Amino acid sequence: MDPRDASAPVLLASNLVKAHGTGRGARRILDGASLHARAGELVAIVGRSGSGKSTLLQILGGLDRPDDGWVEVAGERVTGASERRLSALRRHRIGFVFQFFHLLPELDGLANVLLPATLPGADRAAPARGMELVERLGLSDVAHLAPHQLSGGEQQRFALARALVADPPLILADEPIGNLDAASGQTVLRLLRDAADQGRAVVMVTHQAEATAVADRVLRLDDGRVTELQPGGGEPLETAHDAP
Ligand SMILES: Nc1ncnc2c1ncn2[C@@H]1O[C@H](COP(=O)(O)OP(=O)(O)OP(=O)(O)O)[C@@H](O)[C@H]1O
Ligand SMILES: [Mg+2]
Repeated sequence: MDPRDASAPVLLASNLVKAHGTGRGARRILDGASLHARAGELVAIVGRSGSGKSTLLQILGGLDRPDDGWVEVAGERVTGASERRLSALRRHRIGFVFQFFHLLPELDGLANVLLPATLPGADRAAPARGMELVERLGLSDVAHLAPHQLSGGEQQRFALARALVADPPLILADEPIGNLDAASGQTVLRLLRDAADQGRAVVMVTHQAEATAVADRVLRLDDGRVTELQPGGGEPLETAHDAP
C-alpha cells in the first residue's frame, strides 16, 4: 500500500438526503446525514433497525444515489459520477461487504474472493492476497463449495475476503459479524482493525458491543442524521442481539 496522508479523509459525506417511496407514502430515511472517515480509522455506525444504516452505506459506496448532498471517496466525487466512473471507483477504491453477502451463486467461495483480482486494473498481488485472506478467515476447507452449500457465517467471511482482495483505501461493511460466533467474529474484527491500522478507512454498521469496542469512533444514525457518540459518554449501545 502507498503511504497515505493520515489527515486527509478518505470518505467525506455531506448533508445526505434520501427518501424511499413516492407521493404520500414517501419517507425521508436520511435527512441531512454527514460523516467522514480518515485513513487509519475504524468507524462504527449504530442505530435501530430501519433507521437507514444500510441505505446510508449503499450511498457511501456509490451503489445508490442520494436525493441531495454529496459523497467523496479518496478525493473523487461519487455523487453525480457516471456509471462508468462509479464502477471504476467500486472496483479500485471501495470494498463493500453487504449485509446479505451477495456472493455469486455460480462461483465457489474462493472464486468469489478472487473475482475482483481478475478484473482489468487489479494489482498483481491480489490473487495471493485472496488466498491469504481465505486461509486467515478459516475458509480453506470450504473454499470450493458453492455459496448455497456454505453456512451464513462462511458466506459472510467470503464476502469480507472479496471486499479486501483489491486492497481498497475504503472498506464499507454492513453488519460484518452479524452471523458469526464469538471466535469468527473476533477474527473478522481483528482483520478490519488491521485494515484500518495499515492505513485504510473502515466504516462498519453494527449493533454489537464487541464491534463498537474496537472502533475509533462510534456514530449513531437517528432521525436521518448522524451524531457522534462520546467515548465513555454514558449513552447505551444496543446489545440486544449478541452473537449466537
Ligand atoms: N428500496 C426501498 N424502497 C422502499 N423503502 C425502503 C427501500 N429500502 C429501504 N427502505 C426502507 O428504508 C428504511 C431503512 O432501511 P435500511 O435497510 O437502510 O435500515 P437499516 O438501518 O439498515 O435496518 P437493519 O438494522 O434492520 O438492517 C426501512 O424502513 C426500509 O423499509
Ligand atoms: Mg441494514
